Amino acid sequence: MDTVLLSDSETDLLKAAELIKSGEIVGIPTETVYGLGADASNEEAVRKVFEAKGRPADNPLIVHLADFSQAEEFTAAIPALAYRLAERFCPGPLTMVLPKNDKIPMITSGGLDTVGIRVPSHPVMHRIIQLSGRPIAAPSANTSGYPSPTSADHVMRDMDGKIAAVVDGGSSEFGVESTVISIEGDNSVRILRPGCVTREMLAEICSEVVIDHAILHELEAGQKAASPGMKYKHYSPRADIVMVEGKLEDFIGFVGSHNGDGVYSLIFDTDRENYPYRYMTYGKDSSQQAHQLFQRLRELDDAGAKKVYVRAPSPEGVGLAVYNRLIRAAGFEVIRI
Ligand code: TXA
Ligand code: MG
Repeated sequence: MDTVLLSDSETDLLKAAELIKSGEIVGIPTETVYGLGADASNEEAVRKVFEAKGRPADNPLIVHLADFSQAEEFTAAIPALAYRLAERFCPGPLTMVLPKNDKIPMITSGGLDTVGIRVPSHPVMHRIIQLSGRPIAAPSANTSGYPSPTSADHVMRDMDGKIAAVVDGGSSEFGVESTVISIEGDNSVRILRPGCVTREMLAEICSEVVIDHAILHELEAGQKAASPGMKYKHYSPRADIVMVEGKLEDFIGFVGSHNGDGVYSLIFDTDRENYPYRYMTYGKDSSQQAHQLFQRLRELDDAGAKKVYVRAPSPEGVGLAVYNRLIRAAGFEVIRI
């Protein structure tokens, strides 16, 4: 099929909403990354999303709504804490896992009896949800396993010919996917996937914020994932990614003794002066790193990188999300020097 590139004009957003209503898949901008949007209540449309991404059937899709009040229509129960969190963080990059009702088909929830609910803040995404009048299931719009797309061009590269349209809403504001949480108790949440709503921000609303073990550690054989997405290799470009923790001078020494054809370094902006080897940079603080990471991973592939040594980011605040994406891109290969 021909994949049409749409603008963010009202006429084009109407077209996008019509496509979704008729069971087609549309690449849509959000404030985190681009998503592959489909009517979450239409099993056939959702099946096409799994197919276009090459995504395993047991990995659930997040359902996007225009307003958190609509969550009542698709869930079986909403704890009081969820309303408090919604008041502070919706719309925005937070996904809450809640018990689903039968308006969300099993294919959408990957066979689970819960559903991830998110209210995106991106005006284009918001408008498309409103115009379609449907709950929109949207995984990140990358081919399964590859870095998430942060521009319409990335989506086109992965999905051209596989979906009906892509809406260009510019470059994604945050650059990493939403924070996914489950509600553990009256005053307690668990972070299943870190994002730009940080542990510190959640702690302003609830007394306990647990970081799920799978965020920083590889699951052992037979271990059950709280979030199915954590089971799979993810965010990986074709190049082999290795995270290196240590001081800049030690990093330079390490790369020097491992340099060769197709070897690149991914370093901080502040490291670049006189940096002696082939490199790309990914910002100078956590939010810049989040914003640039996926774009750089794709650029490293375009440049023909075979092996990439990455300066490990600080895992504080938004940095935890950056660290989590990188450690998974690296298949948990971290060298400490
Ligand atoms: O920012 C985002 O969340 C983007 C944009 C498009 O909204 N979407 C996104 O979707 O990242 P996806 O499908 O690429 O990642 C969703 C993650 C997966 O790791 C999945 O396993 C987890 O959320 N997830 C979704 N529903 C879940 C549920 N009911 N229980 C546990 N984990 C869930
Ligand atoms: Mg994804």
